[in-house]
Amino acid sequence: MKLLLTLPALWLAACTIRPEITPSDNNAPATALPASVTRTDLANKAEVAVGTENAPLTDAPFVPPPITRKTATKVVVHLEVKEVQGRLADGVEYTFWTFGGKVPGKFIRVREGDDVEFHLDSHPNNKMPHNIDLHAVTGQGGGAGASMTAPGHSSTFSFKAINAGLYVYHCATAPVAMHVANGMYGLILVEPKDGYPKVDHEYYVMQSDFYTTGHYGQPGLQPFNMEKAISENADYVVFNGSVGALTGPGALTAKAGETVRLFFGVGGPNLTSSFHLIGEIFDHVQAEGNTNTTMENVQTTMVPAGGAAIVDFRVNVPGTYILVDHSLTRAFNKGALGMLKVTGTEDKVVYSGKTDDAVYSPEGGSVRNNPEPAPLQTPAANKAERIARGATVYGNCVACHQATGLGIPNAFPPLAKSDYLNADKIRGIKAITGGMQGKLVVNGTEFNGVMPALSLSDEEVANVLTYVLNSWGNSGGEVTPADVKANRIVPVH
Ligand code: CU
Repeated sequence: MKLLLTLPALWLAACTIRPEITPSDNNAPATALPASVTRTDLANKAEVAVGTENAPLTDAPFVPPPITRKTATKVVVHLEVKEVQGRLADGVEYTFWTFGGKVPGKFIRVREGDDVEFHLDSHPNNKMPHNIDLHAVTGQGGGAGASMTAPGHSSTFSFKAINAGLYVYHCATAPVAMHVANGMYGLILVEPKDGYPKVDHEYYVMQSDFYTTGHYGQPGLQPFNMEKAISENADYVVFNGSVGALTGPGALTAKAGETVRLFFGVGGPNLTSSFHLIGEIFDHVQAEGNTNTTMENVQTTMVPAGGAAIVDFRVNVPGTYILVDHSLTRAFNKGALGMLKVTGTEDKVVYSGKTDDAVYSPEGGSVRNNPEPAPLQTPAANKAERIARGATVYGNCVACHQATGLGIPNAFPPLAKSDYLNADKIRGIKAITGGMQGKLVVNGTEFNGVMPALSLSDEEVANVLTYVLNSWGNSGGEVTPADVKANRIVPVH
C-alpha cells in the first residue's frame, strides 16, 4: 500500500519542478509563477465598483488626466464611429474610418478593476458596419461580436478591466485589415491601482501605415489599395494619422528639466515600429505596455503591430528632438517623423554643442588647429560643367531635400521653384557653409528645423548651388567659387 501511495506523489513532484522552484517546493501547483509575478485578475474581478462616471476621451496627442480615485467605479464610454475625409499629407486627401472623428481614435483611460459600460455609436452618414475589439477586454473577440453596429445604430456591452496595462483597440469587421488600414485604431489605458509615477507631460502617439493607389505625395483624394496592403508595401507610415501631424504647430512641447511620458501604440495594420527619439534616451520603458517589468536606459523600443509601449524620460537640454521609426526610410521618405520641442536654458555640461572645428590628419595621427590649404581641385571650366559636377555634390543634400528637390512636407523645405533661394543666391551659400536653424518660410509654408553646415570647398558649394539654380524650375544663374569665398560663414580649412 505504501508503495502505491508514494509513486504517484513522486511522479507528480517530478513534473512540477521548474528552474525557479527549489526541491522543497515539491507541492507547488503546476501553475506556479516566478515570485516576481503576482496574479491580480481574480482580485480585480472581485472588486465592487462604486458610483458611475463618464470617461473623458481625448484626441491625440493628448491624454485624459491621471486617475486619482482609490476605488473601482462604473465608467461609461461613448465612442462614435465616423467615416470622414481628411488630410493624409499636403495636397493628399483620404477617406478615414475613425473612432471619434480623427486618427488615431480617442484615448480612453480607466482604472484597473473598473466596470466599463461601452457604447459604440455609428454615425448615420456612415456607409459601412463597424465594431470594436479592445485588447483590454477579457472575452469573446474583445467585444467585436457584441459591438457590430450598422450606420445609425448604437451597440452596448460591458466588461471589467481586470488586467492593467496599455492596450490597442481596433475595428474587427471584415475585411479587418482594410478597416484598420483606413484608420480604425486607438489606445485604451487600464491604469494600475497605484498609477504611474508623476511626470510633467503625458502625450499620446500612434504609428500606422497607409496604402494608397497613388504613390507617396501624389495629390488628390487617394483610394485605399488592397494589393499594396497585402504585399505590405506602405506608401505612408505616419504618427497620429497624417504626415506632419507632430511637426510645426503640432509638435509636442516641454521645458528643459521636465519629464515626459509617451503612450505609444502601433495600429498597423502591418508594420512594427522601431520607436526612437533622436537626441534622447528613454529613462524607462514599459515594453509592450506591460506592468511587471520596467526597462531602464533604452535607445529604441520595438513595438509590434497591435501593441503598445509606455516610455518616459527627462529632457535635460533645449532642442528639437525627433520622433522616428528607426526603419529610416519610413521616417524620411514615408512620414514617420514627429518633433518634441524643448525650450529652456542650455546646460553645457550635459551637451556642449560644437566647440571646435579642427583639421584632422590621419597621417600625422593628431588633430591640428592650423588649417592647411584644401586639396587642389580643377575648377569647372564652364557653367555646364559646374552643373554636371554639382549633381554629384547634391548627394550631400538628397536625404532631406530629395532627388526631386521637393523636400519633405513639414520637415525639410523644397529647393524646387524655391522663392527663398531664387530671391538671393547668397542665401544658399550661407545655408550650406553655416547651417540653418529656426523658422523659415518657403513658398508660403513655414518650416522649423535644423540644417547642419556642410564641410564643402568653395568649388563644391558653387557647383551644387549652380546645379540647384538650374534644376526643377528654378530661375537659373551661376554661383562662382569667388561668390562662395566672399560669403561663406564657416571658413574653409
Ligand atoms: Cu470598421
